[in-house]
Amino acid sequence: FKVYQTMPDPDPDRLPVVYEEWEKRAREVLEDGPYDYIAGGAGGESTMDANLEAFKKWKIVPRMLRNVESRDLKVELFGHTYASPLMLAPIGVQSIIHPDGELAAAKASAEMEVPYITSSASTRTLEEIADAMGDAPRWFQLYWNKDPEVTASFLKRAENSGYSAIVVTLDTPMMAWREKDLKNVYLPFLAGEGVGNYLSDPIFRSRLEKTPEEDPASAIMHWTQTFGNPGLTWEDLTFIKEHTNLPILLKGILHPEDAKLALEHGVDGIIVSNHGGRQVDGALGALDALPEVCEAVGDQIPVLMDSGIRRGADVVKALSLGADAVLVGRPCMYGLAVAGERGVREVLQNMLADLDLTIALAGETAAGELDSSVLRKSE
Ligand code: FNR
Repeated sequence: FKVYQTMPDPDPDRLPVVYEEWEKRAREVLEDGPYDYIAGGAGGESTMDANLEAFKKWKIVPRMLRNVESRDLKVELFGHTYASPLMLAPIGVQSIIHPDGELAAAKASAEMEVPYITSSASTRTLEEIADAMGDAPRWFQLYWNKDPEVTASFLKRAENSGYSAIVVTLDTPMMAWREKDLKNVYLPFLAGEGVGNYLSDPIFRSRLEKTPEEDPASAIMHWTQTFGNPGLTWEDLTFIKEHTNLPILLKGILHPEDAKLALEHGVDGIIVSNHGGRQVDGALGALDALPEVCEAVGDQIPVLMDSGIRRGADVVKALSLGADAVLVGRPCMYGLAVAGERGVREVLQNMLADLDLTIALAGETAAGELDSSVLRKSE
């Protein structure tokens, strides 16, 4: 009722409520290059479509008369209690979206008690982002650099800056075929955006003949030569385990056999994701992959998911199909484009309110206890 009681909002700068309107407003404020970089996907974007279609196949079957007066959105992960099952997905180069970039998004997350996952490809350094967040929960997303010492240095820096888990993204050993970026001839990294974590890293710097300040072009060239590591295999995970004491989650798992391998190699969590349809065109929708991955993993480690979360009902469906938490990506970035920190806060606040109401109206009371009994599949 709080939501409805405060309406109509007299604020002339009223922010959107509807996801599609956030996207439309972001389109208006961003140039083609940055907008297409955020909103676009790999190839013909069929994976992006599949992500949204997957949610439509599942319907919630609400239960009645179950006393839903008080609800609990909290979830437990790796011994921490988090306020809700939402996290902010790791997204690089946020400076192309808003001048305050990651600092704005991280502050909004902190305020909404939504853990922020800092991307390796952030414009701001992982230390600056940590400083902006105070004691608020944060995880670090690792792009596994070809130079093992740079990778180890990132892990150490994350641990020293109060990050409490490492998300190793596996689906990006190289950038995919992204038609819109190719058409726009737009890749932020080549203009030096999103490489701040590397250019400030002592090991990365030690590899350069001249400092990035003296010779930025050579520093970026070195980054392009070391970003991504297509030669990695499952055995290489030992290296990450040897270099951090934090829980390790693998992001980008879609195949149940990979989920089993993740378990065999002793990781602490899995994130089912197809990178928002930005890597493999024609891939399975992430929600379609979730049940089989959860079945392969059982209760042994947490399974999170992203790619297509837009509204509260999407979160309910993902949790009911076995996810322990979900990552919110593009919706927050459209919020950032439209209104900076305030925009991200608004998107998260709305999604939390929507989630709380949808849980209650489905006849449920706890985010952590949802299961598939509340869903039916309709093709
Ligand atoms: C991403 N994503 C991503 N993932 C990651 O592990 N490291 C990164 O640096 C980035 N960068 C990035 C940039 C942009 C512009 C987007 C849209 C996405 C993927 C992200 O974490 C998440 O998997 C997707 O955003 C989920 O899809 P939706 O729900 O946003 O469509």
